[in-house]
Amino acid sequence: METKWFTLRTVEDKESIAQAADILRRGGLLAIPTETVYGLGADGLDETAVLHIFEAKGRPQDNPLILHIPDASWLTRYCEDVPDAAYKLAERFWPGPLTMILKKKPCVPLRTTGGLETVGMRCPDHAVTRAIIEASGVPVAAPSANTSGRPSCTTAEHVREDMWGKIDGIVDGGPCQVGVESTIIDLTVTPPQLLRPGGLPLESLRDALGEVTVDKAVTQKMGDGEKPRAPGMKYRHYAPHAKVTVLTGDGAETAAYIRAHITPGGGVICFDEYVKLFPDCVTHPLGAEGDKAEQARRVFDALREFDHTDVTEIFAQCPDDTGLGLAIGNRLKKAAG
Ligand code: TXA
Ligand code: MG
Repeated sequence: METKWFTLRTVEDKESIAQAADILRRGGLLAIPTETVYGLGADGLDETAVLHIFEAKGRPQDNPLILHIPDASWLTRYCEDVPDAAYKLAERFWPGPLTMILKKKPCVPLRTTGGLETVGMRCPDHAVTRAIIEASGVPVAAPSANTSGRPSCTTAEHVREDMWGKIDGIVDGGPCQVGVESTIIDLTVTPPQLLRPGGLPLESLRDALGEVTVDKAVTQKMGDGEKPRAPGMKYRHYAPHAKVTVLTGDGAETAAYIRAHITPGGGVICFDEYVKLFPDCVTHPLGAEGDKAEQARRVFDALREFDHTDVTEIFAQCPDDTGLGLAIGNRLKKAAG
């Protein structure tokens, strides 16, 4: 298949937006930029188009897709009994890195929701992508644009690595500003429950809603037969051949631990301050120790880069669980399996 590349940095580029929207309207696959990670989009109401997403990614069909919409006014088209909390969160955090699980209307195919009667809804903070969705007139089902099992894509170049020749188009809207996927909150239960930590901190949700519980899958390893409420949380996101060891705690201490245990040529994901301790290793700086926003932007990039090396062990420094740290730690620990 021929893949068309769109470099699209402004909503003024109406011609490219119309062409990209046309791919979606005709049932094609289009990689789209968002503030979190790149998505692999298709018309979420078109079962055949949605099936093609699963095929292109090699994604298990019981893993539901989320629908991307340009604003909260589209919620009632696809969702039943939308609670006040949804509008409250949309008002405060949309467009932004937040996905809300709501009751679906019959028009949303079970193929899209992996057989569930609920659907994830998200309004991405990327003006070009919102303009494309608006122009297409359809809600865009979009999982992260990586091949299943690989780290999510935070640049259009990463999407090219995974999807070139398999999809109709790639929209290059620049590098992702957040770098980890959206936070997922289930609003069909009381109190609301966090299903996946992401670009919007749990603290912000609690500030807006009061009590928010946390699904066990977020913080603990699932036992055999246990099911996380977000089906995707059961999959290991990235399985490097190398053994990954994740270290939380004071940066100077964890850096000293790594120094004492690593063999030359090993891989290190570390805070910027400690890179110089590992001249004989393959290092990927994660950002300054106190700068979680930068760490979130770089975490998938660091993991993806190790695919281009043959390191057999990776040690990773991990921030604490507050703010964006919960999402960064969750992604690193999933990589470690
Ligand atoms: O930031 C993001 O959310 C990115 C960008 C592209 O928007 N998308 C993304 O999609 O991360 P994906 O498919 O890679 O992850 C969506 C997660 C999966 O773990 C899936 O199981 C869960 O959301 N999910 C989707 N619909 C659900 C539902 N109705 N109930 C529970 N979990 C759901
Ligand atoms: Mg994903």
